Amino acid sequence: MATKKDIVVIPGDGVGTEVMDAALAVLDVVQNKYNYDFTYHQALAGGIATDTVGVPLPDETLDKAKKADAILFGAVGGPKWDNHPPHLRPEQALLGLRKALGLFSNLRPIVLFSGLEDSSSLKAEVIQGVDFVVVRELTGGIYFGEKQRQKDNNGYEYASDVLLYHEHEIERIVRLAFQMAQNRKKQLTSVDKANVLESSRLWRAVVDRVKTDYPDVTVEHMLVDNCAMQLVRRPASFDVIVTENMFGDILSDEAAILTGSIGMLPSASLGEGTLGFYEPVHGSAPDIAGLGIANPTAMILSMAMMLRHSFQDEKAASDVEKAVEKVVHMGYRTQDTKVDSDKTLTTMQFAEKVASLI
Ligand code: NAI
Ligand code: MG
Repeated sequence: MATKKDIVVIPGDGVGTEVMDAALAVLDVVQNKYNYDFTYHQALAGGIATDTVGVPLPDETLDKAKKADAILFGAVGGPKWDNHPPHLRPEQALLGLRKALGLFSNLRPIVLFSGLEDSSSLKAEVIQGVDFVVVRELTGGIYFGEKQRQKDNNGYEYASDVLLYHEHEIERIVRLAFQMAQNRKKQLTSVDKANVLESSRLWRAVVDRVKTDYPDVTVEHMLVDNCAMQLVRRPASFDVIVTENMFGDILSDEAAILTGSIGMLPSASLGEGTLGFYEPVHGSAPDIAGLGIANPTAMILSMAMMLRHSFQDEKAASDVEKAVEKVVHMGYRTQDTKVDSDKTLTTMQFAEKVASLI
């Protein structure tokens, strides 16, 4: 009996639709090979949703997402919607989905593919062997704390953003990071600013309490400024990095440029259950949208993360990852990482190569 799964497919805007088509071509092969029965539920979000139904995140999309086994998301946004008022901006779709689905963690694996050493801005010997994952807290911290903007008695403006964490919010993300470390090199780096921030001192205390449940994992606390340096100095020494929302936002973008093109990097956002939200790290790339040249790797690898985290199918996930590695190793590239012009492929050709190797 084939395993049934309901997958909500949200291509979004710009290259989102192109990389989604490419990833689905690969997923169709996965369906046959690993005996699944996938139902793809197409849904609208982002600029295209604002244009057609008036809001970036239609209720219908949210309803579909809540009932799904997993959500594949392309990218949203573009110059056309840049001047829309905040509540109609495409990224509201992302924030709304994360919040409504309780997706409190964001996972970004950073892996150097053999053959792409020269695409990095760092020296090949520094990035050799890079293979780590950034686990970022996604629904708490300063992005969600109370915001204020007022005038003081002298008429000068002041503003504040509150950085607040509850113990349970820290504990659930930290446990997830420990579990990931257990399945990897068993080395966890918890990043904070405990020398000045009270919320970081609580963060550190929770890590130290929780670590007794994971005795096989080595834990290191690192201040965020130091981590920013170590990421470019010795990136290959990390395994799992766990940190709060804003630090994670900044560090994961820094980490994203270590291994070459942003078109290579997948992500997963997870909550308590197996429902997950899978999207490339990149945006809608308006400068290349519609040309069929976007790198579909990030979307394909996001789909592999779906197989791993939502469907608990490690075999299918790693087979997809190995197929991508092989295609890159054979020298095939999209234009963002090109080496050899006769091996430059379009978005769909690249996906078809990957599909043929699964
Ligand atoms: P971007 O990631 O869309 O593009 C940055 C650069 O990377 C561009 O030169 C682009 O051509 C290139 N690039 C991105 N993805 C690529 C791919 N798959 N293959 C080859 N090259 C690729 O970021 P940018 O330009 O800052 O934002 C463009 C739009 O996307 C904005 O409206 C922004 O708000 C939105 N955005 C959406 C995100 C999301 O949906 N999660 C995340 C980031 C930005
Ligand atoms: Mg960011």
